[in-house]
Amino acid sequence: MDIILLGPPGAGKGTQAKRLEQMRGMIQLSTGDMLRSAREAGTPVGLRVREVMDRGELVSDAIVSALIGEHLDSARDKGAIFDGYPRTLHQAEALEFLLDERGRNLDYVIELVVDEEMLVERITGRFTCASCGAGYHDRFHLPKAQGTCDICGNHEFKRRPDDNEQTVRTRMAEYRAKTAPILPFYEEKGMVRRVDGMASVEEVAAAIDAILDSKA
Ligand code: AP5
Repeated sequence: MDIILLGPPGAGKGTQAKRLEQMRGMIQLSTGDMLRSAREAGTPVGLRVREVMDRGELVSDAIVSALIGEHLDSARDKGAIFDGYPRTLHQAEALEFLLDERGRNLDYVIELVVDEEMLVERITGRFTCASCGAGYHDRFHLPKAQGTCDICGNHEFKRRPDDNEQTVRTRMAEYRAKTAPILPFYEEKGMVRRVDGMASVEEVAAAIDAILDSKA
């Protein structure tokens, strides 16, 4: 089964994608993670996208669709969770082509419906363990022992450079202007399902499970 998780920055796409990986063995394909890896590795693509990402703007369609094309086959058997892709109509068409040429097709586009103002606090407070990547939050989820990762015991944490308020607002404006308009493309195909993204992580997960189980 191949699905898209759609929603603005901080809607919970990554949180739910990781859970679906653990619970259902699906594969998360996050263009944000791919681009951050390219930045950290200092590849030519990483160097090209750095400033665009730090401003909160969208990277070019050609770059992200090429990245997805490189990773798509890794999810052939287990099913893909597209997280943060597609983000423009052009990317949606590119994904359709990439899946088509592999004899695959999308099952669902799950939109996480959220209150954007509430998301600014969610995003600007988050940080992760620099070693294992476990996620934390200044207000909602601190490590049990201050300064020590609950999962791996590491003492170093990191924050994303684009998680400051000004950049978050640009990312949200980009979502409204360029990504939300792809919904009608999928609505026409009858693929869109909506979930209340302001509910708890567990409630959102249960709603997504119910959608995926309805396919069986
Ligand atoms: P990307 O990495 O995709 O970032 P994003 O879409 O802005 O999404 P986030 O990762 O910020 O949020 P999320 O929805 O995954 O929420 P999360 O689960 O982490 O993209 C970054 C940049 O890369 C873009 O700005 C662009 O420059 C570039 N890019 C990437 N893809 C691109 C593409 N296709 N085309 C062009 N450019 C592209 O949750 C957030 C926080 O909330 C966490 O602390 C979490 O613990 C908490 N939380 C989650 N769910 C809940 C809940 N239900 N209740 C309470 N707290 C919750």
